[in-house]
Amino acid sequence: MTPYFETKLGKLYHGDCLEIIPGLELESVDLVLTDPPYPTEYTKEYKFNKKTILLLNDINSKQLIFWTPQDKDKFPLSYSCFHIWDKKVGVKSQFELIYERNGGTGYRVYNVYLLNSTVAAKYLSDVFTGHKSQKPRKLITKLLHDSKTNNTVFDPFLGSGTTAVVCERSKRKWIGIEIEEKYCEMAAKRIEESLTVMERIERSEKGITKKTGLLF
Ligand SMILES: C[S@@+](CC[C@H](N)C(=O)[O-])C[C@H]1O[C@@H](n2cnc3c(N)ncnc32)[C@H](O)[C@@H]1O
Repeated sequence: MTPYFETKLGKLYHGDCLEIIPGLELESVDLVLTDPPYPTEYTKEYKFNKKTILLLNDINSKQLIFWTPQDKDKFPLSYSCFHIWDKKVGVKSQFELIYERNGGTGYRVYNVYLLNSTVAAKYLSDVFTGHKSQKPRKLITKLLHDSKTNNTVFDPFLGSGTTAVVCERSKRKWIGIEIEEKYCEMAAKRIEESLTVMERIERSEKGITKKTGLLF
């Protein structure tokens, strides 16, 4: 299967994870870190399909899965504990849960600002891509660090590419899937921008650089 975009560390596939996963070699994956579409938010835009969540049952590795507490539907998979993302949005309490599967039993609270505008992004030294569910890099970095895993990270709902960007920065291998081409494009540019100057020069010489607006 040809990836939509790849780096030395990772591959991004464009398509439905239901169709792509069976063709992937996932033996090296020791962490699924993902943020699937929810049954109550942007369901059409993000093509919510419960079957895709249930597919995570077939992946034999530790898993950290975002699942919003406003859902009428409970988290549909078994889990060992959940973590809390306190979004720090002022006086109003806003939080999201991150379910851990096949892993620890002690929960953690992550205090990281909600990222939903260019202002918030600047505050977090992130870049807001325009993807409404873009997660803060800081949060994903902490989750990755606390997971105590060190092999390949898999995100079958990659969106704007946050998981892959954090993996590139921490030199972890990654595999991502995204169904919408516009988000694949967004993710690819973001990942390219997160590479070191040397890597970008190498890619430019091979003619595989994405147009990112950066010189190198
Ligand atoms: C909640 S967003 C993920 C946002 C991501 N964490 C980020 O930081 O940008 C979920 C993503 O899953 C994608 N998606 C939905 N169904 C999919 C499927 N069957 N296969 C692959 N991607 C899918 C949606 O297009 C959407 O971009």
